[in-house]
Amino acid sequence: MDKNLNNLKKLPKHIAIIMDGNGRWAKKNGKKRVAGHEAGAKAVNKVVDAVSKLGIKHLTLYAFSTENWGRPKNEVNTLMSLLVSSLKSEIHSLLEKNIKLTAIGSLKKLPKLVQNHLYDVIKKTSLNNGTNLTLALSYGAREEINQAVIQISEKVKNNLILTRNIDETIINEHLYTKNLPDVDLLIRTSGEVRISNFLLWQIAYAELYFTNELWPEFNEDSLSMALESFNKRERRFGKTS
Ligand code: IPE
Ligand code: IPE
Ligand code: MG
Repeated sequence: MDKNLNNLKKLPKHIAIIMDGNGRWAKKNGKKRVAGHEAGAKAVNKVVDAVSKLGIKHLTLYAFSTENWGRPKNEVNTLMSLLVSSLKSEIHSLLEKNIKLTAIGSLKKLPKLVQNHLYDVIKKTSLNNGTNLTLALSYGAREEINQAVIQISEKVKNNLILTRNIDETIINEHLYTKNLPDVDLLIRTSGEVRISNFLLWQIAYAELYFTNELWPEFNEDSLSMALESFNKRERRFGKTS
């Protein structure tokens, strides 16, 4: 990977990934869906490692959506258990790699055990200043915007914000991602070409990259390809070149 990436002039500051295709990977390999999610967790470790080695500051991973609560109960339970075991097994590696973990989403909807492990790792890695790894858990962009509108309305009612002063900065400050810059590169695996309620506000000017690889197949080389594609793009932001 290092060889290819040496010539890259522009690296994204913030990469966000819709990690899709665990179930199809399992089916393709004659395994149960749970094995697909386990393989997906391994891919997460590889990609986090590669991103942190490249010195990319922000990586946001879509791990569980508000809509995913609608999956069969045993699948939801499997995903929650897998989350707990990954948090337990990865804490040392996160500390060693100077990675800071954060999370966005409606976290209070997560099972208590998941919340406990999550907040524990967030706390233990809070002083790290390398890559900022954000997990989107029980996350939905519409819900995020909805709760921002509620918070802002309350502040207007209590005269803490004047309606005429509401602007993009104020809206940003009420999103779960208030501490993150906009997404530069959004990657989605599995061949689906959709956003599935992920970071709608924050991807307004992101470069989009879709690959047919299923998430468990995504590795350092796949990341290199995405970064090479990003490097070739001219980001005009509505202006002329
Ligand atoms: C992504 O893989 C993992 C989550 C959404 C939690 P899927 O489970 O959606 O896999 P497919 O889309 O069924 O292949
Ligand atoms: C998006 O994948 C959510 C995550 C990757 C966590 P889904 O598999 O849930 O999305 P759809 O159903 O293809 O839109
Ligand atoms: Mg899917």
